[in-house]
Amino acid sequence: MTSVATAISLVTRAEAEAAAGTCSADLAKGPWEFDAAEALRGMPAYGPGASVADRAPASTPRQGQLPEEYKQASDDELHARITAAKEKLGDRVVVLGHFYQRDEVVEHADFVGDSFQLANAALTRPEAEAIVFCGVHFMAETADILSRRDQAVILPNLAAGCSMADMADIDSVEQAWAQLEELFGTEPDAEGRVPVIPVTYMNSSAALKGFCGEHGGIVCTSSNAATVLEWAFERGQRVLFFPDQHLGRNTAKAMGVPLEQMPMWSPRKPLGGNDAATLRDSRVILWHGFCSVHKRFTVAQIEKARTEYPGVRVIVHPECPMEVVDAADEHGSTDYIRKAIAAATEPTVFAIGTEVNLVNRLAAEYPQHTVFCLDPVICPCSTMYRIHPGYLAWVLEGLVDGEVRNRIEVPADVASTARVALERMLAARP
Ligand code: 13P
Ligand code: SF4
Repeated sequence: MTSVATAISLVTRAEAEAAAGTCSADLAKGPWEFDAAEALRGMPAYGPGASVADRAPASTPRQGQLPEEYKQASDDELHARITAAKEKLGDRVVVLGHFYQRDEVVEHADFVGDSFQLANAALTRPEAEAIVFCGVHFMAETADILSRRDQAVILPNLAAGCSMADMADIDSVEQAWAQLEELFGTEPDAEGRVPVIPVTYMNSSAALKGFCGEHGGIVCTSSNAATVLEWAFERGQRVLFFPDQHLGRNTAKAMGVPLEQMPMWSPRKPLGGNDAATLRDSRVILWHGFCSVHKRFTVAQIEKARTEYPGVRVIVHPECPMEVVDAADEHGSTDYIRKAIAAATEPTVFAIGTEVNLVNRLAAEYPQHTVFCLDPVICPCSTMYRIHPGYLAWVLEGLVDGEVRNRIEVPADVASTARVALERMLAARP
């Protein structure tokens, strides 16, 4: 099977009109073209891909211009340069690749996994001076928090953020918290449960993880969200869950929390757009955040798959909207999806609701099964897609020359409280 990047360059050419199509013809360009366009506009943006229409906050990191030699290099040349740089660096560097990265990057990764597995993978290489994280900003921050202070965590393209993580910023969460404290006070009830426990999804800034660490809260991932919510309900009367409303709603609903007790918190509105009585009765207050990749999946796509492939197994990521999760056969994290396909002993048709790079890779890895993406349009995560092999070659050759480029460093005070919230999550693991 051709990689997503190759398929995009094919379908954006006129001769491939019969193909399913891509969400933007701009995807065929090098991501450096968006870095340049951003510099001209003076405003950060996510670039083409699933979150192109989301508004990037002014504070979103931007990537400076990639030197011309990397922009001009062919795919084969970049492959050879990355391979040579890695060989020269040996154990001094470890390259981590998220499941959603393009194949041309994943093939150079020493570890491939979900965000949590990759943060742990970094710990298994204490001898490495540099951890090159081919993923998005919050993942590199987490690796920095968990790794030794003298290990440099590098994000090959600084503009590889996460539009969902950017939907909750520390100022808005602090404002929400102040309003909730005013409404509920801070005293625990007769069972010792405090009024609110903050829970942040791993897809969030280090500052929000630090906020949770400081306020008796915790971090969760898509694979342990139910365990983490149980932990929080033991200690609190309700949870403030950010930034992903869908993961929060899908997880709490499966645990039996009624939808009426899950109001949405819209930042910028007083009491998040709720009345005091609704908030008093709430169990989970859901932040108004979402992932634009997983928002693309619909019940109609699932119905179509069931009509075309009777007996199809539909598995979606819990960042999908509730109706989609309800209509699917199963839902789970990226690693759950991968393991479910790997474990199937009989040839099976799988319709998958998650990022297209992972789905296509699974299809290629398990040819005994039919694996396809529920969304027929090739529309990758805009920000994951900004890690192009050109940037990987640039940071690795920098290391060969003794220069650390694009280091992600979480300030020590934020890192220490964020570590508390991450450690609570590790301890809460079943
Ligand atoms: P994982 O935590 O499964 O790696 O997912 C991260 C992500 O961004 C999902 O959209
Ligand atoms: Fe963020 Fe969604 Fe991309 Fe994951 S897929 S990194 S949640 S924008």
